[in-house]
Amino acid sequence: MFAHTLLPALAVFGVAAAQTSSLCSQATATINSQADATQYASCSTIDGDVLISSAASGVLQLDGPEKITGNLICHNAGALTSIGSATLASVGKSLDLFNLTVLSTFSFTDLETVNNISWISLPALSSLTLPSVISTAKFITISNTFLSTLDGINIDTAETLEVNNNNRLKEFSTQVSNVTSVIDINSNGKLLEVAFPNLIWAANLTLRNVSSLSIPSLATINGSFGLYENYFTSLSAPNLTTVGNFGGRSGSLAIVANPSLANITIPGLTSVGGAVQIANNSALNGISFSKLSTIGGAIDFTGNFSSVSLPGLTIVSGGSNIESTSDITSSCSDITDNNAIAGTNNCKGKVANPTGIATGSGTATKTGSSSSSTSSKGAAVTFGVGESVVGLGLVGTLMQMLL
Ligand SMILES: *[C@@H]1O[C@H](CO)[C@@H](O)[C@H](O)[C@H]1NC(C)=O
Ligand SMILES: *[C@@H]1O[C@H](CO)[C@@H](O)[C@H](O)[C@H]1NC(C)=O
Ligand SMILES: *[C@@H]1O[C@H](CO)[C@@H](O)[C@H](O)[C@H]1NC(C)=O
Ligand SMILES: *[C@@H]1O[C@H](CO)[C@@H](O)[C@H](O)[C@H]1NC(C)=O
Ligand SMILES: *[C@@H]1O[C@H](CO)[C@@H](O)[C@H](O)[C@H]1NC(C)=O
Ligand SMILES: *[C@@H]1O[C@H](CO)[C@@H](O)[C@H](O)[C@H]1NC(C)=O
Ligand SMILES: *[C@@H]1O[C@H](CO)[C@@H](O)[C@H](O)[C@H]1NC(C)=O
Ligand SMILES: *[C@@H]1O[C@H](CO)[C@@H](O)[C@H](O)[C@H]1NC(C)=O
Ligand SMILES: *[C@@H]1O[C@H](CO)[C@@H](O)[C@H](O)[C@H]1NC(C)=O
Ligand SMILES: *[C@@H]1O[C@H](CO)[C@@H](O)[C@H](O)[C@H]1NC(C)=O
Repeated sequence: MFAHTLLPALAVFGVAAAQTSSLCSQATATINSQADATQYASCSTIDGDVLISSAASGVLQLDGPEKITGNLICHNAGALTSIGSATLASVGKSLDLFNLTVLSTFSFTDLETVNNISWISLPALSSLTLPSVISTAKFITISNTFLSTLDGINIDTAETLEVNNNNRLKEFSTQVSNVTSVIDINSNGKLLEVAFPNLIWAANLTLRNVSSLSIPSLATINGSFGLYENYFTSLSAPNLTTVGNFGGRSGSLAIVANPSLANITIPGLTSVGGAVQIANNSALNGISFSKLSTIGGAIDFTGNFSSVSLPGLTIVSGGSNIESTSDITSSCSDITDNNAIAGTNNCKGKVANPTGIATGSGTATKTGSSSSSTSSKGAAVTFGVGESVVGLGLVGTLMQMLL
C-alpha cells in the first residue's frame, strides 16, 4: 500500500537509495506538509527528532516509520486537524503536542511505547485512537484537552502522571501499580471518576475536583497525600498503611475542603511522616484512625465534626490542634491526656470559628525557638492551605516548626 505512494514520491524527490539513510538519520526531520511526511515512508526508524512545523495543516499521516528515537513534536499548527500513523510503535523521547486548536483526530494504531507523553492545549481533541494501547510511558501530562476518556493509555509503572483541566473528562482508570514521583489529578470535569485498581505504591498523590476515587490496593505513599475540593462522599483506602517517611519527617496527609465527604476509612494507617491535616469537610461527622501510631509532624483537625478517635498514638513529633464547632469534650479528654504528643496539645469543642495551624491563626503557640516560630507563622500565612497542593511538604514542615 505504501509502495504506491512511496515510489512516485521517491521519484519526485529524486531520493536515491544512498541518500535514504541520511534522510532517516538527521538531528531534526522537519515536516511541513503531507508530501514531506511521505518522504519518510521508507525509513523503518527515524533516528533523531521529528518536528511537525506550525505550517502543517489538514491531515498528516506519518506512515512507514516504526520508531522515532528522539522527540515527535508539533506546536502551534493551528490548521492541523488530524495526526496519525499506522506504523509507529515507539517514540524514544517526547510525543509533544502543544496548542493545536483544531486537532480532532489522533490515531496511532500501533503505538505502544512513548517515554514522555506531553499533550497540552488540544481543545478540539475529543478522543484517542490507540488500539494497541500505550503500555509503556514514564512521564505523562495531559492538560486542557476535550477528551472524555484516556482509554488507550494503560501503563504499569510511571514516574509522573499529571492530568488537569480536561473539562470533559469523565473517567480515568489505569492498571498502573507504581508511580514513583507524582500523581496529580486536578481541575478536570466535575464528573471525573478515578480508579487505580492496582496501584500499590505512589510518591506524591494529589487529587482535586474528583467525583470518585478507587484505590483498593494502595499500600504505601512515600510522599504526601492530598485530597482537596473533591465531590465524593466517602474515602476508602483499605490497604493504606504508610504516608511519607517518619524518619525523614516528610510526607503529609491533607484532606481539606471536600464538602460532601462524610466518611474517611483508612483503617490500617499506622504512620504519617509529616502532618495530618483535616479541615473544612463540612459533612464529616467523625474522624477516626484506629491504628495510627506515629506522626512525624503535627495533627491539625478543624471543622464541625462531633468525634475524634486516635487510640493508637505512640509518637507525635509535633503538636496537636483540634477544634470543632461541635461539642467534642469526650473525644478531647483522651487526646489531651495523651503523652505521645510532644508539642502543644490543643483540643476544643464549641469553637465558633475553628482555626487551623497552617492558616496562620494564633492557636498554635508554643515551645521551640520563638524566633523561628514567628517567622514560620508568617510563612504559614504566605503558604496558605489553598496553595498547599503544590507545597504540601512545606506545610508539613511549617507545622513541625510551629509546634
Ligand atoms: C497557539 O497557536 C496559534 C496559531 O494557531 C498562535 O497564534 C498562538 O500564538 C499560539 N498560542 C500560544 C500560547 O503559543
Ligand atoms: C516531557 O516533555 C515536555 C515537552 O517536551 C517537557 O516540557 C518536559 O520537561 C518533559 N518531561 C520530562 C520529565 O522529560
Ligand atoms: C515502586 O518503585 C519504587 C522506586 O523504584 C520502589 O522502591 C518500590 O519498591 C516500588 N514498589 C512496588 C510495590 O513495586
Ligand atoms: C474545583 O472545586 C472548587 C471548589 O468546589 C471550585 O471552586 C472550582 O471551580 C473547581 N474547579 C473546577 C475546574 O471544577
Ligand atoms: C491488601 O493487602 C493484603 C495483604 O497485603 C493483600 O493480600 C490484598 O490482596 C490487598 N488487597 C488488594 C485489593 O490489593
Ligand atoms: C521515599 O521518600 C524518601 C523521603 O522523601 C526519599 O528519601 C526516598 O528516596 C523515597 N523512596 C523512593 C523509592 O522514592
Ligand atoms: C464508612 O465506610 C465504611 C466502609 O466503606 C463503612 O463500613 C462504615 O459503615 C461507614 N461509616 C459511616 C458512618 O458511614
Ligand atoms: C476553611 O474555610 C475557612 C472559611 O472559608 C477558610 O478561612 C480557611 O482557610 C479554610 N481552611 C483550610 C485549611 O482550608
Ligand atoms: C456541619 O456544617 C454543615 C454545613 O454548614 C451542616 O450541614 C452540618 O450539619 C454540620 N454538622 C455538624 C455535625 O454540625
Ligand atoms: C513531593 O512533594 C513535595 C512538596 O511539594 C516535594 O518537596 C517532593 O520533592 C515531592 N516528591 C517527589 C518524589 O516528587
